[in-house]
Amino acid sequence: MRFVYVVGTRPNFVKTAPVIAALRARDPNGRHAIVHTGQHYDRMMSEVFLEELGVPEPDHMLEVGSGSHSRQTAQVMERLEPVLLEERPDLVFVPGDVNSTLAAALTAAKALLPVAHIESGLRSFDRTMPEEINRIVADVLSQHLFLHSDEAVENLRAEGIPDERMHFVGNTMIDTLAALEGRFRDAGAAARLGVEPGAFLLVTLHRPALVDGPLLAETMAQLAAVAAEMPVVFPVHPRTRKMLAGAGAEQPGLHLTEPLGYIDFLSLIADAGAVLTDSGGIQEETTYLGVPCFTLRANTERPVTIRAGTNTLLGLDPAAIAGIPAALADRPPGRRNPPPLWDGDAAERIADVVLGAG
Ligand code: UD1
Repeated sequence: MRFVYVVGTRPNFVKTAPVIAALRARDPNGRHAIVHTGQHYDRMMSEVFLEELGVPEPDHMLEVGSGSHSRQTAQVMERLEPVLLEERPDLVFVPGDVNSTLAAALTAAKALLPVAHIESGLRSFDRTMPEEINRIVADVLSQHLFLHSDEAVENLRAEGIPDERMHFVGNTMIDTLAALEGRFRDAGAAARLGVEPGAFLLVTLHRPALVDGPLLAETMAQLAAVAAEMPVVFPVHPRTRKMLAGAGAEQPGLHLTEPLGYIDFLSLIADAGAVLTDSGGIQEETTYLGVPCFTLRANTERPVTIRAGTNTLLGLDPAAIAGIPAALADRPPGRRNPPPLWDGDAAERIADVVLGAG
């Protein structure tokens, strides 16, 4: 068969790598063309991930870069169309919920090519999040919807998507994490940053609702206060770095770093006393590893992580950060509690469906 995999951002690479590997192994004579849209382009946001994940060199680089939502989406569409016409795939894979996902699903659908959506059916029910629009459109246009949690079934049924298109296969991001566990357990990123395993708060923040306005300065003030009680490690996303510029955020105990590679970042999650984030994927990784997670958002499209007991929704409220050390002191030790089918074999189940064995 002929496959095209369209990826563009850090989380896309993590979710798609095991699917590419499974399908290449099962259909070695097939065509497996990787298209990198270039939505993420810094070495630490892109190349390092592809290297660590063992993803082959992309066959097509679209180099769209940053821009407004419409411009970025439009540029991916314009540059992807000729690639799809040349590749003539039997199936186009689009992962996650970023602008590249939306653009690729639309372009493939317009070219009358079948689309497979990895991580389908997540909903925050908040259409002010760009990702929510991207998810809804990708799902409605896809022939194969690969679900990573059972709650997605109801979300999709409510939008009139027939059950025949849904396949509950599990979480491909967890496939990647499980495959890398030996490497990240030995990586020792905490020691290199000079913080003691088990005793620090790991922070990631990049959502526009939080970092593009005044909430970012309030958040940094709260983090500086927490850093007096427990060290804070904060690898800063480029969007956040741009907004922080000149804010003078360095404080004792508050370690701001450049974006990290995936092995080092997983090493930090595994060794963190707790994680504070507004990311989607990190809510899942902490759940799998049994690390307490505090989500600085008004909602989550991943309620499965809250039911698992690892994730706490703080609201979009920096003042809630102050309560984290006390909340940790009151908590029983974390334990692994992965939701159903977060077991390392999701990509194999996707290959079963696609190659007709499932
Ligand atoms: C995007 C996704 C978001 C995902 C996140 C993961 C959309 C709408 N958003 O957000 O869902 O959670 O990726 O990281 O698709 N930049 C760089 N170098 C890079 C990439 C970005 O400097 O390699 C800077 C640019 O200033 C850019 C800004 O970051 O304008 C935002 O990048 P963009 O890809 O638009 O969105 P993210 O915030 O990364």
